[in-house]
Amino acid sequence: MSLPTAKTIIRKAGSAVAIINGDNREVLKKYVNQVDLLVTSPPYADARKKHYDSVHPDDFADWFLSFHEAFYNALKPNGSLVINIKDKVVDGVRHRFVWRMIEALCDQGWYSIDDYIWHKTNPMPGYWPTRLRDGWEYCFHLSKSKKPYFNADGVRKPIGDWVESRLRKLGENDLSRHNSVNQSGFGRDISKWVGKQTVLPSNVISLALVGKNQGHPAVFPVDLPLFFIKLLCPEDGLVIDPFGGSGSTGLAALSAGRRCVLIDNNAEYCQQAVRRLREEGVAEDHEVQPQKQVKPQPGLFPKS
Ligand SMILES: C[S@@+](CC[C@H](N)C(=O)[O-])C[C@H]1O[C@@H](n2cnc3c(N)ncnc32)[C@H](O)[C@@H]1O
Repeated sequence: MSLPTAKTIIRKAGSAVAIINGDNREVLKKYVNQVDLLVTSPPYADARKKHYDSVHPDDFADWFLSFHEAFYNALKPNGSLVINIKDKVVDGVRHRFVWRMIEALCDQGWYSIDDYIWHKTNPMPGYWPTRLRDGWEYCFHLSKSKKPYFNADGVRKPIGDWVESRLRKLGENDLSRHNSVNQSGFGRDISKWVGKQTVLPSNVISLALVGKNQGHPAVFPVDLPLFFIKLLCPEDGLVIDPFGGSGSTGLAALSAGRRCVLIDNNAEYCQQAVRRLREEGVAEDHEVQPQKQVKPQPGLFPKS
């Protein structure tokens, strides 16, 4: 069996993460039709020039299209691609390279399933004459099919204390479906919430920016890929982060008991990911939801 370039495998309680140093367009050729979820944060346009290649915003959509074939072919027919990204201000104006990228991908056959927002609970301080502090980023959910694998129950959250006091005071309007007075078609039936312990979250994910230095300039919080892994990857599925960086997606996959491959074309970041997975492989309590243990899965590396 021939393996793509340098790789390391970290194992924990039945799940495993492989870290592969290489260009994802090459490495992914070995995973055709095998991947349930690609979840990633690519280099942002014109950013981190000191650390890795940066692409001019005007060229970004075309550059990203160079990954389309590898990503599309690697995914199973009901698989998903989640891209965390943010546009930037060029010459005082928001550049729309991110929108162009999504439109270009849809022209190639991807379906735009939904746009999630990562709401940063601790945005960077600063002052700008025409805009406020930047407190959010996009997470685009794309898929090869209009009906990708989707397990909403995997991301249910506790319903919250406010419900108990609200349900104690149910009024007349709460005991049956209450339609909007302006005929908008919206309505609610609060009584349906009686006895419920959990609720589905919205498509706004509130998480703090990563404060501590992880040996990489652009680390996203482990809980961000974790959310999408639980939502979009079956328990016996395979997750790949094609721009793996310091290994945040690997940490999330370990805590969720999924098989995972991280790919990065920078050898130092791969080493950093290996270090981090070894040191932090046991995720912090607040990041880990109780998960069913899954059997060790074969096939982390492709047959060739
Ligand atoms: C925004 S960072 C990802 C950071 C990651 N989410 C984390 O939490 O550490 C993007 C990464 O993509 C890598 N990269 C850029 N082009 C690549 C390519 N063609 N193949 C694989 N990795 C690439 C860069 O080295 C960089 O580490």
